[in-house]
Amino acid sequence: MSNTIEPIPRTGPRADETRTLPEVGGIELTGIDLSQPLTQERKDWLMRTFRAHPVIVFREQNLAKDQQYEFTLTFGEIEGLHVNRFIDAAKYTPVHTVSNIGPDGKPGAPTRERGNYYWHSDKSYHDVPSLLTMLHGVEIPAKGGETQFANTALAYAALDEATKQRLAGLRAVHSWQRSRIQSRSMPATEEQIRERPAVDHPIVRTHPDTGEKALYLGNHGSHILGWPEDEGRALIRWLESFATQPAFVYSHRWRLGDLVMWDNRCTLHRALPHENMEAERRVLHRTVVKGTVPY
Ligand code: OGA
Ligand code: MN
Repeated sequence: MSNTIEPIPRTGPRADETRTLPEVGGIELTGIDLSQPLTQERKDWLMRTFRAHPVIVFREQNLAKDQQYEFTLTFGEIEGLHVNRFIDAAKYTPVHTVSNIGPDGKPGAPTRERGNYYWHSDKSYHDVPSLLTMLHGVEIPAKGGETQFANTALAYAALDEATKQRLAGLRAVHSWQRSRIQSRSMPATEEQIRERPAVDHPIVRTHPDTGEKALYLGNHGSHILGWPEDEGRALIRWLESFATQPAFVYSHRWRLGDLVMWDNRCTLHRALPHENMEAERRVLHRTVVKGTVPY
């Protein structure tokens, strides 16, 4: 990860159309149209850019769902369907919607699904968790509703040596069932628990592309394998608060047409509520690329 920008190939955006997002080591790109087919040169450049910048904000996009699907495939295999498809199959399709729209079609504050408002890394409760996630802003509220990102590689690097030593070799248990309790969401069903029993992952993860170490935790994290649950929970929550200090956090204020993608292997993210949730709609189109087993 770096805060310098690689020289941009002629097919990429101009230098004056980029901006770094220093807290999270991210980048914002404006003069690039993702609805056009990407040349191999452009794809290679994007892959390198993503390796160097775990959060990329593309401004001024207008992608139909199938175009977002195509673009997502640039980065790997689209992830299998969410465990919530058991509850709402129509909603959990490969390009699905993140919104505050209820089953009655009206906007509202979330009651059943609150997980996105807690720091997390997508699908860390899977044995093979998500690599990256993309959100494309389709309806944006006037105030609030930011998505926040924290860079957990920068956070790990900032820990003192004694803490790093203490974390070496520890594994965290991640659980859909526990996550639902921690986010005060609708409890996991028997069927969901059968499909997604608890798994465990190293609490310090090595990024498979960059070799960098990053904290791997978040709200799906339950406790530390082999530790009393409350002690493990306390350590996870402490590390999370360390990793989400303002110094490591970028708050993305959405504009219509933004497409934001992030690397779940070295970041945490969460949504902030928006003002006037009962009246104002917030709708984002979402795709996810499947990752690899953390080590
Ligand atoms: C997600 C997510 C946050 C948001 O889509 O994985 O956590 O701001 N979304 O909607
Ligand atoms: Mn998420």
